[in-house]
Amino acid sequence: MGVGSDREFIVKGRVFSGLGEGRKFASLKWFRRKIMEMLGFEPYPGTLNLLLTGEVSSTLSELFGKFLGYEIYPEDGYLPGRVYRVLILPDIPGAIVRPCIPNYPKNVVEVIAPIQLREALGLKDGDEVKVKILFE
Ligand code: CDP
Repeated sequence: MGVGSDREFIVKGRVFSGLGEGRKFASLKWFRRKIMEMLGFEPYPGTLNLLLTGEVSSTLSELFGKFLGYEIYPEDGYLPGRVYRVLILPDIPGAIVRPCIPNYPKNVVEVIAPIQLREALGLKDGDEVKVKILFE
């Protein structure tokens, strides 16, 4: 299945700016509590958007269909979603958040982490980031 062990899949993507939706979502109290309970970290309030590069989009959406990750049941009218543990390579633990939105783009992933990744990794729009997804 990808690079690494059986259940690891490495994707590359370019950083892009969204509309600030990630910050709103990742600031919600119930979301933050659930991430802490499920993954053991308090997320920096925002999501780092990555536009996938290479031909991985269809394989990845198959994997997201096959592996369920952690389910997020929202508490206040938001759509449910799923969360997948990742390593932002080389070594920052984080997660991909997939909201269950119809027509959510196949070639985008949104990454949360305990730290602000742009600052920690010196990232600007267009820079490439590698993420190892741990399917479990
Ligand atoms: O504005 P946009 O929708 O792209 O992002 P956001 O979810 O509102 O997050 C605010 C800012 O923090 C954006 O520049 C993200 O790329 C960045 N971010 C980060 O550097 N590290 C994270 N762990 C999460 C978000």
